[in-house]
Amino acid sequence: MKIPLLQDKLEYYFKWFHQHPEPSNQEFETTKRIREILREEGIEIVETAPGAELKTGLVARIQGKAGTPVVALRCDIDALPINEESGLPYSSLNHGFMHACGHDFHTTSLLGAALLLNEERETLNGTVKLLFQPAEEGGDGALQVIESHILDDVSEIYGIHVAAGHENGLIGISPGATHAAVGIFSISIKGKGSHGAAPHYARDPIVAAAQLINTAQVIVSRNTDPFDQAVVSFTHIKAGSTWNVIPEEAWLEGTLRAFSDEKLSWLAERLRECCNATEKAMGLRIDLNYRVCTVATNNDPELSEFAAETARSLGLTVVASQRAMGGEDFALYQKIIPGVFWTIGINSPQGVHHPGFIADMSRLAAASSLFTALAQRSLARLSKKK
Ligand code: NI
Repeated sequence: MKIPLLQDKLEYYFKWFHQHPEPSNQEFETTKRIREILREEGIEIVETAPGAELKTGLVARIQGKAGTPVVALRCDIDALPINEESGLPYSSLNHGFMHACGHDFHTTSLLGAALLLNEERETLNGTVKLLFQPAEEGGDGALQVIESHILDDVSEIYGIHVAAGHENGLIGISPGATHAAVGIFSISIKGKGSHGAAPHYARDPIVAAAQLINTAQVIVSRNTDPFDQAVVSFTHIKAGSTWNVIPEEAWLEGTLRAFSDEKLSWLAERLRECCNATEKAMGLRIDLNYRVCTVATNNDPELSEFAAETARSLGLTVVASQRAMGGEDFALYQKIIPGVFWTIGINSPQGVHHPGFIADMSRLAAASSLFTALAQRSLARLSKKK
């Protein structure tokens, strides 16, 4: 298919996805639409084993002259609970939801790659699995896919994200971590309540919370190497119900971020020490609840070089990725399959997760071409090793 023709087709698909955003794990219409397009094009959809079916999202397969090796191309399909204020003529029709992270762009570009690869399947040196992943924003989409065992035979994986602040079509690729490891914590403080006029009878959880929040700021400002990025954010606090009563309890939650899994667990360890010290100093009880939400992305250095070279071979310009403290569950695949998470510039007036975010569609076909070339060239390389 000629690229201008593909671009027209993709813009038509893209507008539909943009108008029909659905939140994590509820991408039913989106999945139906993807399935419909793939069927129209005669592309096979992989059925997962009974008991391990994906509720939403799907995997398509394009098999070349041999069944193996297998590489995977991944996009995410979910949207955010944001009211769109982009002013686009094809704005969201699902009130309260918006494709504000470019997942509609990702989905459409992967469909474009499916079309291109299907046309050239006779020349493919193996199989390409095209993964339309649900629930990236919800955090458990990649886990669902891994548990479905649909990627068990995959040797390499490539994933796309739009880069809001990069010029249209600019490709971002960097080795190592580009998206942070994310931890989530909640802290409950149990003290003793009293009359607001009699603080000496209380074990004041509000003062303890204030103390703890201030102490925890030291983890980044005094304990962390300034060249090594980390974040400790308290984002939610609840305590008390009126002006003249010292409450019995306070409750806090927040997030930790770092560019390596080791650094993230160190942050959690320091936060625990701050909780223990405050508990002792204030004479009340502090319980920390902590879990890792997602690990850090980790682009394989050799494959990053390969991906950059592939992009350049298509005449695309490659720059370093924009690093983000946001998490990305593509990282979970990279724990088991070497891969590269690459970005494409869409020159948005606003960043991702903003109601005014706009993904310029003009480079959809370019993204499809890069996905296609990555699959073709990686299969050619892997099949030589067999
Ligand atoms: Ni995203």
